[in-house]
Amino acid sequence: MKKLLFLVAAAMLSISALAQDATVRIHDDGTGVQIPKEIYGQFSEHLGRCIYGGLWVGKDSSVPNIDGYRKDVFNALKELKVPVMRWPGGCFADDYHWMDGIGPLESRAKISNNNWGGTMEDNSFGTHEFLNLCEMLGIEPYISGNVGSGTVEEMAKWVEYMTSGSQSTMANLRRANGREEPWKVKYFGIGNEAWGCGGNMTPQYYSDTYKRYATYLRNYSGNRLYKIASGASDYDYDWTEVLMKAIGNSMSGISLHYYTCMSWSGSKGKATVFDDDLYYDVLSKTLEVEPVLKRHIAIMDSYDPSGRVALLLDEWGTWFDEEPGTVRGHLYQQNTLRDAIVAALNFNIFHKYTRRLKMANIAQVVNVLQAMILTNETEMVLTPTYHVFKMYNVHQDAEFIESDVTTKSVRANRGGNVPEVSATASRKDGVLNFDLVNTDLKASKKVLVTFDQKSVSKVISASILTSGDVHDYNNFGTTANKVAEKEFKAYKVTKDGVEVTLPPCSIVAISMN
Ligand code: AHR
Repeated sequence: MKKLLFLVAAAMLSISALAQDATVRIHDDGTGVQIPKEIYGQFSEHLGRCIYGGLWVGKDSSVPNIDGYRKDVFNALKELKVPVMRWPGGCFADDYHWMDGIGPLESRAKISNNNWGGTMEDNSFGTHEFLNLCEMLGIEPYISGNVGSGTVEEMAKWVEYMTSGSQSTMANLRRANGREEPWKVKYFGIGNEAWGCGGNMTPQYYSDTYKRYATYLRNYSGNRLYKIASGASDYDYDWTEVLMKAIGNSMSGISLHYYTCMSWSGSKGKATVFDDDLYYDVLSKTLEVEPVLKRHIAIMDSYDPSGRVALLLDEWGTWFDEEPGTVRGHLYQQNTLRDAIVAALNFNIFHKYTRRLKMANIAQVVNVLQAMILTNETEMVLTPTYHVFKMYNVHQDAEFIESDVTTKSVRANRGGNVPEVSATASRKDGVLNFDLVNTDLKASKKVLVTFDQKSVSKVISASILTSGDVHDYNNFGTTANKVAEKEFKAYKVTKDGVEVTLPPCSIVAISMN
């Protein structure tokens, strides 16, 4: 009799599964693996209007500011709970001489930003301005040091200037510039893209150089540096291999850069104008980060089976053509619902690899590439990507929960399958949070979400990010909130789990207990 009842129940479940477009099975027994909050990190470079006009307008600006920080941006970042922010580059880092950016404003060096359009850099935003911003917003700073054109002495003194509480000349110089107590600086990158704009080095040459620089970066006054080696780009597995072999025992982490970029030589495509084929190509390119992560991680596993060295994806995001009419070299691009889908798909992947992947920094925070925030003279716009970061905030430092998705896929022209439905889940403080993404451009998807342990039965909150058209974006003026998070109601809790109807191109966040 028991067997018969079981068969009937199983048959009923598979009939109801058949009525769905996709099923998401959440293994709510848990994994014990934490999603580090640093996966939700940001990157801010002296590039275009990221710093000037983005984060910083200066104390005398007519734009409302808090000690020179743009007030609207400051408050939006506070809301976002940014865990970590990388600065001052990028390519700019290997051209940056930190002493240019300290002391009285009028005596700071004026230089040409040679990487990014030759724009005049007046160094009014420097070490104090960055570290104070981090302190005010509760952000962990991640400093990128200059290996390409800087010296060992210069880098060593920077660390001492920022973190020493002694009476040394560097610590006293900091005091003379208005900061008595040392800052806490954990993350320190030893160069950026050493294979390219950071010095065009071979991996072996960089490894030797790394050792020299790393030797002189000291831990002062209880500060403990987490030294990060400049890692590979995309598919350069040899770079990771050589570094792991040569300096695997002297670094805390190694970086990786992976952009959703369709071409490094020709047009990268427009941020707001694209056809269906290109939409799927972009999604396929973004999903390719998963095999790339897997291969770099496999190499790291073979040299460091205990997982001591972290992988940090400290540059990622979409890279499209610059908006027409904007300054060349400033990498200003708009941000549509497509970017939001890209961000969500990336997080759904990143969560799976946090045994090794300990940080990710989207490029960049304001006005550059896949930005969270866009500004003009007086207004600020929160992009669709900002909303994804906000919706996914609940995963910061939560326990990762595994899930399996059964769904159809679309074959992209460039190759690669784009699943119609993607998902991720985590648990914090007894609340199970999961996100569902429908990548389909035209069709809604009925999704049945089940829970192995039936540990949850009540929806606490549900929200959605979508819009009538995947090309929609938020712009200054009346369309600033076209793509924004809204309450979501198209779900039903049943004895099998939750039935959810996802509109085309949508991201849904549900919290249950
Ligand atoms: O994020 C823009 C640039 O992309 C960075 O400066 C560089 O590191 C990368 O090539």
